[in-house]
Amino acid sequence: MVHETLDTARDATASGARPAVTIRGLRKSFDGRQVLGGIDLDVPSGRIVSIIGQSGGGKTTLMRCVNLLEQPDDGVIDVNGETICAKGAVTCRNLAKLRQRVGMVFQRFNLFPHLTAVENVVLAQMHAAGIGEREGVERAVRLLTRVGLAHRATAYPERMSGGEQQRVAIARALALGPTVLLFDEPTSALDPESTGEVLRVMRELANDGMTMILVTHELPFAREVSDWVVFIDGGRIIEQGTATDVLDKPREARTAAYVARYAAPA
Ligand SMILES: Nc1ncnc2c1ncn2[C@@H]1O[C@H](COP(=O)(O)OP(=O)(O)O)[C@@H](O)[C@H]1O
Ligand SMILES: [Mg+2]
Repeated sequence: MVHETLDTARDATASGARPAVTIRGLRKSFDGRQVLGGIDLDVPSGRIVSIIGQSGGGKTTLMRCVNLLEQPDDGVIDVNGETICAKGAVTCRNLAKLRQRVGMVFQRFNLFPHLTAVENVVLAQMHAAGIGEREGVERAVRLLTRVGLAHRATAYPERMSGGEQQRVAIARALALGPTVLLFDEPTSALDPESTGEVLRVMRELANDGMTMILVTHELPFAREVSDWVVFIDGGRIIEQGTATDVLDKPREARTAAYVARYAAPA
């Protein structure tokens, strides 16, 4: 099976071809059960890679390995040219810095309930980046404006819709100045209206050139924004290519079955 590489799939400028994340031979087991069975993946800077596949396939574990929320058993992961883990050992010297560079947005928003939107965004910066409160607030308000929530800055999470909370979570991730953003099913817990709001923000980030790894079942959105689509099943990459390749002309039966199941709008 011959695939184009992601770099040749589009006109790659010299800077566009710089790898943001490189994964080789990534393996992870839980309690002796293999969940990732040797994943190789390249994510060049400024590109958007979508990871699709059935529940239980290992997508979340893969994402969690990229910022070392899980420690891989084997394989090598490079982030912005630094090897963060190799052959089962963590080689990253500064985990806090890694998590500033690799932002993560989860299915559940995990905002602090006792803090307002702006406070949630400020707190992340003060903790991680050592930024003072005044500068933190200015930046938080700018980011909340960017995700369309300037008017909700002083609202508490329980008074916000799911889509608003998820947009605060995106602002919080952006506040740390990430070079890569990981999204793990960011709209799975949302109603259609909220889903639309969150996808709109993600589309803008994509257009602004943010490097993103996105786990989603929203195949129309994946098709629209992705430079590369990866289908994972049973902890292995079964098929990968451009959105057109994988979503329109899947070669593998498992991919075709998945695409057929999720192709229809929810
Ligand atoms: N911390 C853990 N301990 C034990 N098993 C886990 C853990 N995390 C994930 N798994 C198992 O690993 C498999 C892959 O899970 P996951 O990465 O969440 O897949 P996906 O995100 O594709 O649904 C599942 O069978 C899940 O039960
Ligand atoms: Mg998952």
